[in-house]
Amino acid sequence: MLDSHGPLQYNLHAPGLELMNQNDLTALKNWFEAYCASFSTPVAEDQRNITVKQDHTHEVCLNAVRIAQELGLDGEQVLLAETIALFHDVGRFSQYRQYRTFDDSLSVNHAALGAKVLLENHVLRDLSKHDQDMIIRSVTLHNVFSLPEGLDESSLLFARLIRDADKLDILRVVIEYFGQEAGSRAEAVALGLPDGPGYSPAVLSCLMRGEMARKADLETLNDFKLLQLAWLYDLNFTASLRMVSERDTIQKLAAMLPRNEEIAHAVDLVREYVRGKLNSC
Ligand SMILES: [Fe+2]
Repeated sequence: MLDSHGPLQYNLHAPGLELMNQNDLTALKNWFEAYCASFSTPVAEDQRNITVKQDHTHEVCLNAVRIAQELGLDGEQVLLAETIALFHDVGRFSQYRQYRTFDDSLSVNHAALGAKVLLENHVLRDLSKHDQDMIIRSVTLHNVFSLPEGLDESSLLFARLIRDADKLDILRVVIEYFGQEAGSRAEAVALGLPDGPGYSPAVLSCLMRGEMARKADLETLNDFKLLQLAWLYDLNFTASLRMVSERDTIQKLAAMLPRNEEIAHAVDLVREYVRGKLNSC
């Protein structure tokens, strides 16, 4: 964990930088609400998929604020982290309206689309250049398989933060999805993968190695659940693992998977990993 030996010390403010304030964030939240409302539809299934992303955004904001505060970031940095969370999935709405899917491989990269929406609508025009750059970069990087080399300290922090906050809530969304009846749930969540008792050995062995399979390798819903478990190895901050533990995420995912020895072993490895990280800080 990046912060396993006490709060990280971040000194991210360049001298003379104009910092965002609570009023800026309130105005941005108002814009976001109006933007979401412009996608509302009388088609129940479509509206469920839109609502799931709106609720997800709200929860990712809460996660981001908590992680930022536990890292000891100052007030303006917490506001910036929340703003990034507010906009990280802003591309999902027009992605869904145009393609009726949340699967980027079948449609468009929703992170790049989100950055485009923010730029084309001049949503960030009242913020400093620094904050605008940080938001656009973090939104763009929130869904990449792994972060590129060479990011500056500030970009790295906010990109890691949104990636953790996002994963934590996708785990909630997925767990809730599998607890709901087919026909009343937001079907786009599961990326159209077929259900059934099977899973792919390659996806399971990625999990065993503590690696994430690529979305393109997923063949079944069980593969999707195994990938969600593997995400826990990719979390950056102790606060994130603490939330995993508080929410009983591992047990809830394990209960949805086939019961056999190799899956039980993979789940035990994840559980040990999280416990070990939390005990070492
Ligand atoms: Fe996303």
